[in-house]
Amino acid sequence: MPTTFTMVGGEGPNSYQQHSTHQGALLEASKEKINEAISTKLGIDFTSGLISIADFGCSTGPNTFAAVQTVIDAVEHKYQKDIEFQVFFNDSSNNDFNTLFRTLPPARRYFATGVPGSFFGRVLPKNSFHVGVASFALHFVSKIPKGVRERHSPVWNKDIHCTGFSKEVANLYLDQYKIDVGSFLNARAQELVSGGLLLFLGHCLPNGVQMSETVNGMMIDITGFALNEIAKKGLIDQEKLDAFKLPVYLAHADELKRIIENNKCFRTEVFEKISHSKEEYQIDSDYLTVAFKVTVGGSVASYFGEDVMEKTYEIVKEKTQELLPQIANAKPGMQYLIVLRKT
Ligand SMILES: C[S@@+](CC[C@H](N)C(=O)[O-])C[C@H]1O[C@@H](n2cnc3c(N)ncnc32)[C@H](O)[C@@H]1O
Repeated sequence: MPTTFTMVGGEGPNSYQQHSTHQGALLEASKEKINEAISTKLGIDFTSGLISIADFGCSTGPNTFAAVQTVIDAVEHKYQKDIEFQVFFNDSSNNDFNTLFRTLPPARRYFATGVPGSFFGRVLPKNSFHVGVASFALHFVSKIPKGVRERHSPVWNKDIHCTGFSKEVANLYLDQYKIDVGSFLNARAQELVSGGLLLFLGHCLPNGVQMSETVNGMMIDITGFALNEIAKKGLIDQEKLDAFKLPVYLAHADELKRIIENNKCFRTEVFEKISHSKEEYQIDSDYLTVAFKVTVGGSVASYFGEDVMEKTYEIVKEKTQELLPQIANAKPGMQYLIVLRKT
């Protein structure tokens, strides 16, 4: 069971690179607030004239390039002097770094470095960066909680993700999530200089809303449905499917806030819901199918193979079309900007 959740690489029609405008729209909507946070909260001492920026969970672009540029523009605006920039692009080692490097903006004003490895542990030297970004990367867990994958366990989860409807399963995921966010923050606390900032952009659940009541949850449930159809035809082993769980946990807003505030290495400067016109997915079966194929599809392919992944998303497309009225009535999710300052 792969525990990393890598996006579909390359630059082709079914790649994350071509279908990540939904995630990129949040950055666009948060630019002014990021600028303000850097202007008023970044408090670093950089005598060498070099500022290092790190993006954790960068994938292939173009969003990572836009995020990095937003930070650079804000830092230049704040200090109004000649600065050299170094950028650390971090993702799991099976991320498509070749595409990332091939598509680096030709006019960039920074030195680029790839940093493969899990962001739940240390990936950079101590005190080595000044501003960190993690965009749509704070909803992963490093492992599936014990018992959730095992067919005969009392907490076996028949769904492929944490729907939120079984309290026991949700609590197990939440416990794991607390550990993982804690590990992420403790690792960054060592790598980030004092007075440096961490910016988190992403999505969580509004308090009281279950994952399966949102478009995200519904689309993952449809993926689970499609995989079960394929298992019924005997094309994949039902037992293998029963153990397939996505390493994803979308926290409720209050849970996320509490987990972050419990870490005493950082002070929360901003924890804001960002509302913008593109925060909800387009209710269109082609759009939704591709949007989830380039994200969730990566995990389906690495567990069951490319052919099964392709068949899965053929079924997903039909089922999405059939369920479009329900999807249109899904409860809204929540997008956020979080800014933490290292104390
Ligand atoms: C949804 S993508 C977001 C990409 C980009 N930041 C954006 O906003 O478009 C999430 C990324 O997090 C990466 N990721 C997930 N778990 C990771 C881990 N443990 N360590 C490093 N990267 C991880 C995935 O490989 C993926 O590229």
